[in-house]
Amino acid sequence: MLGPVILAASRSDKMRRFVSAAPGTKQVVDRFIAGETVGDVIPVVQDAAAKGLEVTLDVVGEDITTREQAAAARDAYLELIDRLKDLGLGTRAEMSVKLSMFGQALEGGHELALANVRPVVEAAAAIGTTVTLDAEDHTTLDSMFAIHEELRRDFPGTGCVIQSYLFRTEDDARRLAASGSRVRLVKGAYKEPASVAFQNKAEIDKAYVRILKILMEGEGYPMIGTHDPRIISIAQELARRAGRKLDEYEFQMLYGIRSDEHLRLAAEGHRMRVYTAFGTDWYGYFMRRLAEKPANLLFFVRSMITK
Ligand code: FDA
Repeated sequence: MLGPVILAASRSDKMRRFVSAAPGTKQVVDRFIAGETVGDVIPVVQDAAAKGLEVTLDVVGEDITTREQAAAARDAYLELIDRLKDLGLGTRAEMSVKLSMFGQALEGGHELALANVRPVVEAAAAIGTTVTLDAEDHTTLDSMFAIHEELRRDFPGTGCVIQSYLFRTEDDARRLAASGSRVRLVKGAYKEPASVAFQNKAEIDKAYVRILKILMEGEGYPMIGTHDPRIISIAQELARRAGRKLDEYEFQMLYGIRSDEHLRLAAEGHRMRVYTAFGTDWYGYFMRRLAEKPANLLFFVRSMITK
């Protein structure tokens, strides 16, 4: 019940101002956001590498309103990639990007987002890594998939995300489960209408398993983005049945969520990639994490009261 209300608040400027200024916010934000600057996140990448984990790095930000902000987003990723290169961390870290941060919603946004993301994908490829295009709300996805297809012509390792809550996703998965593709499957984190998405958790979970089966039986590289213990064991079974070796798929989880499970799966020999978000524009990302688990909201409210 609370989830949709929090997701609605994630798009409100008034709430953004309130939450950002609230006492105790930082303490809760720090659980999910690995610092504000490249300098903050580099030790997190090094620590993950020392533990046998890989990362995908997200410079937080979305729904920007000017072309200058879109260019700044591109430059922030280029700066990050430069630092990873200097430190020889290119093979441990890939990038996750939200096209809305690259200008997708502005006038001429499809072309603008493509023009801004291309240099990031090029720079990532130059240090031996890849970029994955996050999935945002359903109205943005046709553009995201078209940009993904375009980028894959020159950079076939460019990944994309699909969301099991959307009715369209089984078809998308069939199209994407082709040789060389890298596809992250998640349940979906946005507020979507009943005309396009399942609203019920059991249906979203069942769809996740159906879609995962398509990816596992296909010829691409599935990236299993979930913390759900039931789905994780089903994924292991589907991988076994599809005859996939441990390096022919990977698990992905979010920084700050079920960290013990990151280590357990890595210790079993699985590839485990931690989606590590950092930066100052954390509001939308943070609110989606609150919406996913009502207990997080209680913790947040308690930290405001006790501050
Ligand atoms: P579910 O919500 O059923 O949670 C299973 C268990 O995980 C919970 O019982 C709890 O223990 C734990 N858990 C889950 N979320 C938690 C939280 N916020 N705080 C504390 N515990 C939590 N979405 C999207 O729309 N577009 C995208 O591009 C991405 N990208 C992405 C990358 C990666 C690597 C992950 C793991 C997830 C995403 N997501 C996403 C988010 C995704 O859609 C989904 O909202 C969350 O992963 C929560 O769903 P679960 O599959 O974990 O299951």
